[in-house]
Amino acid sequence: MHAKSNASKHKYIIRDLGYFLKSLGISDTVIALEDNLRLSKEQSLKIEMFFSSYLEGLPIDYILNESVFYGNKFYIDSRVLIPRPETEFIVDWALDLQLKKNSLIAELGTGSGCISISLALENPNLKIIATDISNDALDVANLNVNSHDVRNILLVKSHWISCIQRESLDLIISNPPYLKPNDQHLKDLKHEPIIALITKNGLESFHEIAVQAISRLKSGGKIIFEHGCSQAYEVSKILKENGFKNILSEQDLQGLDRYTHAEKL
Ligand SMILES: C[S@@+](CC[C@H](N)C(=O)[O-])C[C@H]1O[C@@H](n2cnc3c(N)ncnc32)[C@H](O)[C@@H]1O
Repeated sequence: MHAKSNASKHKYIIRDLGYFLKSLGISDTVIALEDNLRLSKEQSLKIEMFFSSYLEGLPIDYILNESVFYGNKFYIDSRVLIPRPETEFIVDWALDLQLKKNSLIAELGTGSGCISISLALENPNLKIIATDISNDALDVANLNVNSHDVRNILLVKSHWISCIQRESLDLIISNPPYLKPNDQHLKDLKHEPIIALITKNGLESFHEIAVQAISRLKSGGKIIFEHGCSQAYEVSKILKENGFKNILSEQDLQGLDRYTHAEKL
């Protein structure tokens, strides 16, 4: 049992080291063929830094400063949450709505900008306002907006959508912080920004957003949240208490309730 788990750990270390060496321009073939692989001073230093960061448990995306989300590469560092594959569902769901040209979308808590930028790349006819309360996150999102050269996103520093006019939005999207301050998962997430992870009772973000959202959406406008797999009932209740209708939770690929969407009638 122990030997097997060590073997699989080593497999991941070798895979991640492979990614890292590639990012330095050293390919697998070169490593395999050259006995006396000559490294520049800079490459040696970076490899040493890789090992010390890796041993400290820094996630590979932060070491490489890169994540892949919805098929696109994003600059990532420890100022923002690492994009999660399950969040791609939100992009698919929003695209499936087939919103009209110039529809106005707000993404609340944009972090790296991965959701908004993926939507903007897929549909340049949408107008997207991406907010975050963290200047650090907005700096990272701005780097990604520029590197992807998207023109239909406005980044705004705001407490959720307090900056937005009443009855102006067609769609609201948010993957807000949803862990309780004493959540046991936090010990595995110690390199990610705490502001992206926790909220009072695990539910405060949903309360705050639902209150703001009902007045900012147009009639017929929709909202979708990503949330923890045990929160579908509470999130649905919050949406209902704030006047939303047609509330439905959806499952991720593991069959866990991870998203809840609703409509303002
Ligand atoms: C879970 S992360 C989501 C990041 C990104 N959207 C994603 O899905 O990878 C939540 C984000 O919400 C932001 N945030 C926290 N409180 C906020 C608030 N009151 N108003 C706006 N953004 C907030 C955090 O800074 C963080 O970037």
